[in-house]
This record gives sequence, structure tokens and C-alpha cells, in this order.
Amino acid sequence: MPATSHLSNVWFKVTPLEVTHGQGCWVTTTSGEEYLDFAAGIAVNSTGHAHPAVAKAIADQAQRFIHAQVNVFNHDLLEPLASKLNDITPSTIDTFFFANSGAEITEAAVKLAKQATKRPHIIVFSGSFHGRTAMTMAMTTSKTGYRAGYAPLPSGVFVAPFPDPLAPDQDAEVAKALQGLDHMLKALTAPEETAAMILEPVLGEGGYMQAPAAFIEGLAQRCKQHGILFIADEVQSGMGRTGKMFAVDHYPGFQPDIICMAKGIASGFPFSALGTRRELDDKWPKGAHGGTYGGNAMGCAAALATIDILTANGFMENVNARGEQLRKGLRELQKEHSTMTQVRGPGLMVGTEFDDPARVAAVAKHCLEEGHLILMNAGTYGRCIRWMPPLVVSEREIDLALAAFGAALKATA
Ligand SMILES: Cc1ncc(COP(=O)(O)O)c(C=O)c1O
Repeated sequence: MPATSHLSNVWFKVTPLEVTHGQGCWVTTTSGEEYLDFAAGIAVNSTGHAHPAVAKAIADQAQRFIHAQVNVFNHDLLEPLASKLNDITPSTIDTFFFANSGAEITEAAVKLAKQATKRPHIIVFSGSFHGRTAMTMAMTTSKTGYRAGYAPLPSGVFVAPFPDPLAPDQDAEVAKALQGLDHMLKALTAPEETAAMILEPVLGEGGYMQAPAAFIEGLAQRCKQHGILFIADEVQSGMGRTGKMFAVDHYPGFQPDIICMAKGIASGFPFSALGTRRELDDKWPKGAHGGTYGGNAMGCAAALATIDILTANGFMENVNARGEQLRKGLRELQKEHSTMTQVRGPGLMVGTEFDDPARVAAVAKHCLEEGHLILMNAGTYGRCIRWMPPLVVSEREIDLALAAFGAALKATA
């Protein structure tokens, strides 16, 4: 960083590293040092850094046109991308809208739900993160830091409980959370004024906590009973991160009404997508939503190339095998380090819960400085280290990361 910086200080920093390039799971700094990047652009670099097929798709598209605005033109990547998303999303989802970021797409989902139901309220779940625009800040409850200083936020957002994975009796915990929701529908937001529930099937910023199947069943049943739409925010958990294309695929028979995708969808090119049923989309009046860059041709090219990689033979097998390897290694370390109270999460969306946030910070610092391993924390109390490597991570790279993490646990004991 030069002596006088002209950059904003509002960004918090995970590392002080200045990088020149990346390849796969690795980044190289200006001083030529290599780091294993298990932050992956905050679960974005699904195909790793600079995947050759994605880089080529972007470069080729840039030679044709960079931006063909969707209100002005159709272009020849829009329908192919929608068709590919139709193939990989849950079977009832068949219609797609494009934007540029996670916050934009979760907010778009809420706008669609309000138009389709003509109801004003939204239910979110404790520990949620849906973005940093005014509406999505109002929907975010993982940390006060994301909202503090911005009041008043939009109204009509109600926060229901999310089951705590550390609770000893999980059945009782789910029953308690559903009771909390029922109370909310009686006392705070009547079903007939509730447009949608929006849930991350695996809480991301909230600490990598997967919703129990009985909880999803309970929510789906209440949505059906009251005509409330179910929005799955798969911005972080989607695109193969959990070992299935979407986290909702872990719940057989469950179909969200709207699904939100971003992060891993285009390997790092800013792009997001909302999927819904044609019949719901038809209730969204023409012109009632949009955006200058949504459906951007470069983003479509990056997303098409990314989806080809994610759906190639053996890709998801690697995600699941590496996830197994990671959890097994972490559980071995847990036996020697009781400070780590839980190892959880599907695929390569793995969380390690600690009893002390100071230890989380110390372990992450040691991993970075001594092990050249980049890790990030999560959770309301900062007690979780989240493991979100690129989905192309190799067996050797997981072993390297476990060795660096094990050394950090020992050194900080
Ligand atoms: C589940 C979820 N939804 C929405 C967002 C917001 O995405 P963006 O930062 O691209 O606006 C995030 C970002 O972390 C997220 O994890």
C-alpha cells in the first residue's frame, strides 16, 4: 500500500496480502510467496483462480461484445444460460432473472414475492445474512455490525428462530424453533400478510449451520398451509458448494418457490440469478424490476463455462471426497484439541466451532503467517472457522491445510 492511499477504509481486511495472480487454490503475492486460498473469494472461486476454460470464455466474449443491455437487446447467451440453469435447479424451477450480486438477487426475490402474493411482510431466520443494501440489511441478523448506524431500515421483516446445532437434543431444538415461528404467525405477522420466508439452507455468515431436515419440513408445511412463498437463499450454499448442486437438494421432495444464486455461479465474475416458476414470474409486472447490468454478456459467458465445469463427470465426486477427507482430518484434530467443539457442514461448506473467538483469531493468524493458509471466520460470536476452498481442491491441498491448521492449534494452545 502506498504511503498515501486513495482507497476507502470501509473494507475490513482478512489478510494484508497484496497479490499478483492466482492459479487453482493458490495465490502469489508481490514478493513471490504462495498462499493456499481457503477463503476462495468468500466461497466464490468455485472453479479455482483463473480456471483456463472460464478465463477463455470471458476473453472470447470480450472480443464479441462486453455489454448488450437486456432491455435493449436479446443476446445469444441469455437463453442458453437459462436453459442450463433449468437443467440443474430443482425441477419446479423453470424461469430465471439475472443480476450482479447476492444482495441484489435476494432483494429481487423479495420484490417478486411481494408482487406475486400482494402481501407486505417477510420472515427471515436468526443468524441470516442476505446482503448490504437497505432491504437486505433489514433481513440480516448474523451480526449487528452489518446494520449498525443505518437505521431506520425498511420495515416488515420478522426474525424467526433457527435451530442451534450445538443444542444437545436436536429434535427438541427443531420443535422449539418451529414453535417460535408459529408464535410469530399468531402474534406479529399474520399469514395473510406474509409474502415469503427466506432461508439459507446452510447458514453462511451465521456460522455454517445446516438446517435440520425436520426444520425444512416444518417450514415447507407452514408455507403450503398459508400460501407463503419459500425463498432459498443459495448465494453461498449453491453451485456445488455442499456436494450437491444446491443445498435444497439434500432434502428429498422439497421444492422452493424461488432460489437465489450468486458467488460460485460465475467463478468470480460478478453475476447472480434468481430461479422461480413461470406462473410466479408471470405475476411480476413487466418493468417492475430490472437493472442496467443484469444478464451482462461477460457474466453469462463466465457462468456458462463455470456450469460446464461443475457438471463435468467426477467434479461433484471430488467435492464430496475432499469434504469427507477434510471433516475426518478435523475430527482427528478435535480429539486432541477440546477447544474445537464441533465439526459440521456438508461438502466443502465445513465449519469448525470453537469455545473462544480469541482462539479462532489466533489460529487463523498462525495459519496465515506460518502455514501460508488463508482461512476466514464466521458466526455471530466469531467462534466458527469456515472451510470453503475452491471446489477443485486436491487431496494434497487438503492435507497441507490440515497440517497447517494442526500446527496452529498446537502453537496457540
Ligand atoms: C447467503 C448470502 N446471501 C446474500 C449475500 C450477499 O451477497 P453479495 O455480497 O454478493 O451482495 C451473501 C454474501 O455473503 C450470502 O452469503
